[in-house]
Amino acid sequence: MDLSFKHQFSLVCVILLFPILCNCKEYYTKSRASYYGTSSGYGNSRGACGFGDYGKIVNDGNVTAVSSKLWKNGGGCGACYQVRCKIPQLCDDNGTYVVVTDYGEGDRTDFIMSPRAFSKLGLNTVTSEKLKKYGVLDVEYKRVRCTFNGNNIVYEINENSNNPGYFAINILYVGGTYDVTTVEIWQREQHQWVAMRRAYGAVFDYANPPEGEIKLRFQLSKNIEAHHVVSRFAIPASWKAGATYSTKI
Ligand SMILES: *[C@@H]1O[C@H](CO)[C@@H](O)[C@H](O)[C@H]1NC(C)=O
Ligand SMILES: *[C@@H]1O[C@H](CO)[C@@H](O)[C@H](O)[C@H]1NC(C)=O
Repeated sequence: MDLSFKHQFSLVCVILLFPILCNCKEYYTKSRASYYGTSSGYGNSRGACGFGDYGKIVNDGNVTAVSSKLWKNGGGCGACYQVRCKIPQLCDDNGTYVVVTDYGEGDRTDFIMSPRAFSKLGLNTVTSEKLKKYGVLDVEYKRVRCTFNGNNIVYEINENSNNPGYFAINILYVGGTYDVTTVEIWQREQHQWVAMRRAYGAVFDYANPPEGEIKLRFQLSKNIEAHHVVSRFAIPASWKAGATYSTKI
């Protein structure tokens, strides 16, 4: 009798805990942020996500490298964060909205930002300059929905792709707060989805892709849920490196 009561009690706890766990995402997490140098103030085109020049200018150049915790082996590429510092006379209340384009570890930092993104932490240009002198700032952050490209997945055929022998894509943008965990390619002959390899960052590749049109399926995850999105439009058989496609989430 006593035992079964305990059993029920623990079951109730588990059920009640879920909403609490999910709400935690709404709170800010304490961390530290720094910045890297670029002559333009924008991002750089060599970021580990593999975005190339797009990684320089996406989100108006307000981009960031993140620590391994947020990098998630490349799954964190393209994620959007609100980051704000807390020095009352210097820091903007809303802080800066950044997109992950790169991986980078600093002195206990989670964010190493482009100069533009870091500047946005300050109330104005004068206080931004003061913040830069700190080098590393205490900040708090939270994951926010990416909205600047709509509720889409946008991907591009990687420049090293070669029709028909080698197929690779760069996932440039994912709307909302989703991480892309896997990308699969439809194998017409075997009648099944087969996983592409995550080459690095947001680059997925596949040697000897099926001939003809290419159909992709994305597995997205958000907190603990996961779901599949099948690209509504197949990539035409005559696909070429550099072409960009998008699909609704
Ligand atoms: C912060 O963002 C809110 C909502 O977008 C806006 O209304 C407010 O003016 C912003 N505050 C500052 C200091 O920029
Ligand atoms: C990017 O940062 C610049 C400079 O700090 C700022 O003026 C601009 O509004 C920001 N753009 C976005 C999309 O956040």
